[in-house]
Amino acid sequence: MAIMKERVLERERRGEHMELGNNERRMLKSMLSDSSKSWNLSDLLEATGWDDQVHVAGAGKALSEDGLVEVLETTESSVTLGSEGEKAVSEGLLEARIWDWMQDAEASDRTMQGLFAAGFERHEAGPGIGLLKSLGVKIDAGSFVFDDTSKLSDIIAKRSAFIESLSSTPASKEDLDSELISHFSGRKNLISIEETTIRTWTLTKKGSQMDALELGEIEQIGQLTPEILQGDSWKQAEFKPFDVNAPAPIPAGGRPHPMQALIERIRSVFLEMGFSEIEGDYVQSAGWNMDALFIPQSHPARTMQDTFYLSNPERVDLAPEMLDLWASVHEHGHDTGSKGWGAKFDKEEAQKALLRTHTTVNTVRHIAENPDEPCRVFGIGRVFRQETIDRTHLPEFHQIEGIIHEPDANLPMLISTLKTFYAKMGYPDVRVRPAYFPYTEPSVEIEVYWRGQWLELGGSGIFRPEVTEPLGTEWPVCAWGMGLERLAMLVLELDDIRELYQPDLERLQDMPIL
Ligand code: PHE
Repeated sequence: MAIMKERVLERERRGEHMELGNNERRMLKSMLSDSSKSWNLSDLLEATGWDDQVHVAGAGKALSEDGLVEVLETTESSVTLGSEGEKAVSEGLLEARIWDWMQDAEASDRTMQGLFAAGFERHEAGPGIGLLKSLGVKIDAGSFVFDDTSKLSDIIAKRSAFIESLSSTPASKEDLDSELISHFSGRKNLISIEETTIRTWTLTKKGSQMDALELGEIEQIGQLTPEILQGDSWKQAEFKPFDVNAPAPIPAGGRPHPMQALIERIRSVFLEMGFSEIEGDYVQSAGWNMDALFIPQSHPARTMQDTFYLSNPERVDLAPEMLDLWASVHEHGHDTGSKGWGAKFDKEEAQKALLRTHTTVNTVRHIAENPDEPCRVFGIGRVFRQETIDRTHLPEFHQIEGIIHEPDANLPMLISTLKTFYAKMGYPDVRVRPAYFPYTEPSVEIEVYWRGQWLELGGSGIFRPEVTEPLGTEWPVCAWGMGLERLAMLVLELDDIRELYQPDLERLQDMPIL
């Protein structure tokens, strides 16, 4: 508002309101014929001779920006008949028709059968009787009974009169009985209520002081055509000014879903940093998802409340050598120098099928399949946990996982890699804090500074020997796993994670383009 006002003042200072376009001139001239009148749309259409209200709206807006006209907007709700309402006008309201029949019928005929016999359709009978029941008709041993006929007739007559009153012209909601409006709003297609904006235009003091004689048509070029440009006439011509700041609808084209766009961007950042992409299946064994990561079999995260175990397949067969190795590491540390967890390792437990709870299962399996090849790989994938849905949790979400597996991998390399990643994503302030995971040592949490606070975005660390040795490698492994939706909330400035997956096209349309 303030900006608009300033622009108007600025134009006035330059005397620019005198450069009115033809539409503005015509509208102003028409209004000057009765300078104190409050003009509505049809008055103006008639006075200007226009047949399209767009001209009135456009010229009126320009004139109001020039301070010559004041536009007053009010909204009005108008009520019209819906398709059932139209039908009720010609045939009578359903309850009125049944009520008429009921009063005339013999007491013994006042039953559902009687109603059908009188020609009422099945789809009418149920709702119709429902309406009458709410007005006091009762059903006694299959017969319709009532006592106070005048009250019932009264209400039905009022309803019928209401519907009839709407048959010729729409009425303003304010002028109608609010109880009847709310009654009919609850019934399907009887009435429809539409909000309309009503505008009136009045000359301001400055507008009314304009001289109608000076407001003749001027020759203006509104659109350049090749014909105009070929000649010389344009050199003397006057051009219609364009207001490039005028509000206009934003064209809604197609665009990738913001989540897909974010995934593509993350992918290109890692590829640019020299990483290759890996993938894995949603269905995994507890062995690869947890035991390979030295997560104790008694760990709370392994319970049904946290993990989705599957009934089909219920189990995934694992190689006996792998099971033996993990058993030995878990029970006493194998030859890793660790003491292990001490408890007995359950090979059946390891072969339970589940939906992967993190994408670390992909990187671990990648090492097991390529133990002698140095690698830098990443993956972006869906994971599953039994979370209650709230503002920051979903039972299905995505992780951005990665490893550096090479002879000289080390902690500073891990940290600088993650810092580089976040800097490329537009978050240069990253810090790490000590953390704990059963499978890494040291373990660090990654935090990003955003709007004055540090937000935890993921975990990382160097895989413990209890993890790497059974995989067949002696090189250190830098590993990390970060939440994609958390990052998306930052990038897309959301407070609620659920917004990412709601099919609200308008909101999705408005999310930043990545
Ligand atoms: N898997 C961990 C998680 O789901 C993240 C992580 C990955 C931590 C790799 C350390 C190393 O939160």
